[in-house]
Amino acid sequence: MKFLITAGPTREKIDPVRFITNYSSGKMGYALAAAAQKAGHQVILISGPVVLPCPDDVERIFVESAAEMAAAVHKNAVNADVIIMAAAVADYRPAHPETSKMKKMPGDLMLQLERTEDILASLGKSKTGNQLLIGFAAETDDLEKNALGKLQRKNLDWIAANWVKDGFGTASNSLILFNRNGDKFVFENTEKELLAKRMLETILK
Ligand code: CTP
Repeated sequence: MKFLITAGPTREKIDPVRFITNYSSGKMGYALAAAAQKAGHQVILISGPVVLPCPDDVERIFVESAAEMAAAVHKNAVNADVIIMAAAVADYRPAHPETSKMKKMPGDLMLQLERTEDILASLGKSKTGNQLLIGFAAETDDLEKNALGKLQRKNLDWIAANWVKDGFGTASNSLILFNRNGDKFVFENTEKELLAKRMLETILK
């Protein structure tokens, strides 16, 4: 099957030297890409800025911002059988990024932010009948409730839910997988490589 997987953070430019980003390491998305390739699938990995080696025989496309990630995902989504959005995409970007380096001024600075596209929600709207769409939910509160809300709202087939303290930037993670039929699978504190393998086996079963 053809897999499209996203990984890592995005960077939203404030000016030529500054940006807004998050703590995502990209490890989970890269582990999923490696696991899918090892299981015999064709994999395109759309990656935000991370310093991880590209898994063998995976086609990697680097992007920086949420807008670039959206363009790369939409371009490759049409042919994908399975899409996994593991990237931590910024929900907001500076509304007026500067083309010259900003100079400090007396007093405070207000930064106006505007919404980025919710890529996963767009994919949920355009999803074809036999395409599998999988999202992630990293939460600090109400993990199950928030994850199930995203599963419904974004029209997903599966959602992988984890606590921010367990999975952001770490080598291992604890995950709960939910599908739209109400099934629930729990994976406790597992190395991301093994977790990726288990997650794919569960989803493809
Ligand atoms: N996602 C996306 N595009 C965005 C933001 C998020 O495709 N602009 C995807 C992520 O890759 C992840 C899922 O949506 O698979 C959940 O992201 P999250 O930011 O937790 O969800 P939101 O719906 O933005 O909810 P909230 O920020 O309110 O928690």
